[in-house]
Amino acid sequence: MDNKEKIQIISSFDLYKKETDLPNDDRLLLMHARKTVESAYAPYSHFNVGAAVLLENGEIICGSNQENAAYPSGLCAERVAIFYAGTKYPNVKIKAIAVTCKAENQVVGEPVTPCGACRQAISEYETRHSQKIKMIMSGETGKILVAESIDSLLPLMFNSKHLK
Ligand code: THU
Repeated sequence: MDNKEKIQIISSFDLYKKETDLPNDDRLLLMHARKTVESAYAPYSHFNVGAAVLLENGEIICGSNQENAAYPSGLCAERVAIFYAGTKYPNVKIKAIAVTCKAENQVVGEPVTPCGACRQAISEYETRHSQKIKMIMSGETGKILVAESIDSLLPLMFNSKHLK
């Protein structure tokens, strides 16, 4: 009967009604992500995604999804952006990531949230730099979802601490 205990994991988010309600830095980052959607290469899914990464040195690095005829060879916008940030500024911490989308066959009115692989990749940078990464997630329209850390989107994540 008492040979187990129940644990509960609570994730909390801020949900903003509209973009203009966001703090200035977050709104600016989301604007960069929106602009970056235009460079998406998504001829297969027709789902264009843009991501913008804010670094502690103030620089913003952007990425869009890049698809491939061999589907798994493509890459999501978030990973394109964070891997480029990690390449250009390996020692600079990541403060926040904004992600948004524009589909060619529908209006996305819900926030787009990173896939599991991107959550894992983003969590690596939180661990690497011991710095929480704020996640700003938006659809083409509608409310904007904000998490203070990728931890809210990926509880019980596998990380380097497991390897020691
Ligand atoms: N995609 C992203 O780039 N980021 C996300 O957060 C969700 C999905 C891309 C992958 C693929 O090119 C297309 O969207 C459809 O899944």
